Parts: sequence; structure tokens; C-alpha cells
Amino acid sequence: MISGWVLRGLVTAQLVAIVGQPVFAGVYLSGDFDGLRMHAMGANLTTSIGYLQVIAAVVVWVRLRQVWPFVASLGVVAAETVQYFAGQDGALWLHIPLGVLTVAAVAMLFVAIWRQPVKVVEHA
Ligand code: HEM
Repeated sequence: MISGWVLRGLVTAQLVAIVGQPVFAGVYLSGDFDGLRMHAMGANLTTSIGYLQVIAAVVVWVRLRQVWPFVASLGVVAAETVQYFAGQDGALWLHIPLGVLTVAAVAMLFVAIWRQPVKVVEHA
């Protein structure tokens, strides 16, 4: 049961971190170079939380027999990883639309994980 709460905590932290990304990108695009530094730090934070979330989702899968949080968390962190390299390459044709989609995906995952009751499953 604690794994379900850890997953909720991580998806919440991830949402907060990723929502900052377009804000910092906007600060940078307004001409303040500190915005790019903050955006790079936010990228490290977001993806690190994303990978921790995958580990927590594996525990939820094993202990609570719910596979969908793992599949969804893996999809999100895969998108974030592509996003990370697209950002470093300056491939903005990919980075900006994928960034918008990834923020939306994390917001949807946040709602889905918080709506799901954290329950104990009886093992046969
Ligand atoms: C809507 C969301 C996002 C927008 C609009 C956005 C926009 C940008 C922009 C304008 C740049 C500068 C590129 C350049 O100067 O060539 C950038 C760089 C970068 N972005 Fe994003 N980004 C978003 C989300 C993300 C996310 C979610 C991640 C990580 C998971 C990320 C990781 C990076 C990285 C690693 C860089 C390179 C930083 C550096 O050069 O030090 N971005 N992004």
C-alpha cells in the first residue's frame, strides 16, 4: 500500500517539475539566459523523478497487481528522454511539440494515479 502512496508522491513531484519547463523556456526565449540554466536543471529533475516513478510503478505492479501505472510511467519517461536529447540537439521542431504533449501526458497520469484507489490485493 505504501508503494501506491510513493507513486502518488512521485507523479505529483513530476507534474510540478515538468510544468516549470515551458515557464523556464519562456524566460530564456525572452532573453534571460538564466532561464536556459533553470530549464536544464528542470530537465534533470523531471527525468530523474520519471525514472524513480518507473521503479515505484514496478513495485506497484508486483505488490498491487496493477500493470498500467508501469506501462504509462515507462511511456512518459521514454518521451522525456527523447525530449532531453532533442533539447540538447536544439531540434525545436521536435522538442516543442513533444514538450507540450509530455506535459499533457504527465497531467493525465497525475489524475489517473490519484483517482485510482490505493488498495491491498489479496494474494491467492
Ligand atoms: C513545453 C515544454 C518545453 C518547451 C517549450 C521547451 C523549450 C526549450 C527551448 C526553447 C530550448 C532551447 C533550445 C536551444 O537553445 O536550441 C530547450 C532546451 C532544452 N530542453 Fe526544453 N522545452 C520544454 C520541455 C522540456 C522537457 C520536459 C525537458 C526534459 C525532459 C526538456 C529538456 C531540455 C534540454 C536538456 C535542453 C537543452 C538545455 C541546454 O542546452 O543546456 N525540455 N527547451
